[in-house]
Amino acid sequence: MQFGSLQLVTNLFLSPLAGYTNLPFRLVLREVGGLGLTTTDLVNARSLLERNSKAIKLIETNEADSPFAVQLFGAVPEEMRDAALYLESIGVDSIDINMGCPVRKVCKTGGGSAMMTELDKTAHLVKTMVNAVKLPITAKMRLGWDDNNITAPDLVRVLEDVGAAAIFIHGRTREQGFTGTVNLAGIRQVVEAAQDIPVIGNGDITTPESARHMMNATGCHGVSTGRGAFYNPWIFKHTDHYLQTGELLPEPKFAERVRVMRRHFDLMLEVFGEKRGCLMFRKVAPWYAKRFGPAKPFNKTIVQISTRENFESALTDYLDWRQQFVSADGELIERYRQKPMMPSFMKDDDEPSDAKRKAIPVPKGPVEVW
Ligand SMILES: Cc1cc2nc3c(=O)[nH]c(=O)nc-3n(C[C@H](O)[C@H](O)[C@H](O)COP(=O)(O)O)c2cc1C
Repeated sequence: MQFGSLQLVTNLFLSPLAGYTNLPFRLVLREVGGLGLTTTDLVNARSLLERNSKAIKLIETNEADSPFAVQLFGAVPEEMRDAALYLESIGVDSIDINMGCPVRKVCKTGGGSAMMTELDKTAHLVKTMVNAVKLPITAKMRLGWDDNNITAPDLVRVLEDVGAAAIFIHGRTREQGFTGTVNLAGIRQVVEAAQDIPVIGNGDITTPESARHMMNATGCHGVSTGRGAFYNPWIFKHTDHYLQTGELLPEPKFAERVRVMRRHFDLMLEVFGEKRGCLMFRKVAPWYAKRFGPAKPFNKTIVQISTRENFESALTDYLDWRQQFVSADGELIERYRQKPMMPSFMKDDDEPSDAKRKAIPVPKGPVEVW
């Protein structure tokens, strides 16, 4: 997979998740493996130019977090250009432009999904950025504003003309939010609209099989995963292996899940300090717990941690309590095991018969309307 001059080792991407795709999470995913490119949360171009401390923290990175992209949002071409120049000067590998954010505050200024409605203006903005920097400029969008305004195929044509290096497409409209099924035919139309640049499909991918299904059904050149990476940090490694060999790697054992969660916690404290790191980890740990089997008491205590000590004792208490559900090898007794979640776009004949067809949850909070 190639983005302009940037060579990527796999065609698997992390989708930006505001509030979540920070350095600790990206490093954990890197260590687990399989990722081609990670990304930051969306970053306001103007805040970056003002060297706002929150914006600077969002782009914090290190050598292990490579290659990585920063996602910018903004509607003023000169600001987006200058922010791109700054990011290039500090060694960022790729810049993604947010054209999908449905949040009113972002759209009101002409950024986010409002960009899908004004093709000429958007093309001008992208051209201004492409002309200023050497690094690849990509765009991430939804299919369109609503079902009556599916603009992504037209937008992709104009963006390719002005030099965009790749397109990320979430197969829903802005109006849909996170409801309904990801529209694979809609993604296919976007793939067909692009001449030479890669189109990366996105939406509801939780398993290697669903990644392959999306690629087969749409012809997309790679896939990007957001919530599925929280639900399953092994998704990139396992998908890469599956796409290359056709073989499904075994699900990680419980001890490995706990090891990776603990690593995530340690990195969180390293990057954000004990107090803030613990607060932030309160919303991370329950995602790991979704695959622990019975975990009610853990979810209750982990959302109250304020110190490392609190974390350790929540985990120790949970490990003791969980003993009642495990057999001699430390794994869950069969009846307590959960099957991986399958996205709704999978056809029945592709789906393991006992898989749940539950939708992947959207994290609670101000961004739940994404
Ligand atoms: C909590 C949350 C935050 C998000 N933040 C961003 C963002 O900053 N930029 C963006 O382009 N998309 C954002 N999205 C959309 C995701 O990148 C992705 O397109 C969407 O979640 C569908 O993919 P998934 O089903 O793999 O999660 C966000 C989604 C969620 C749930």
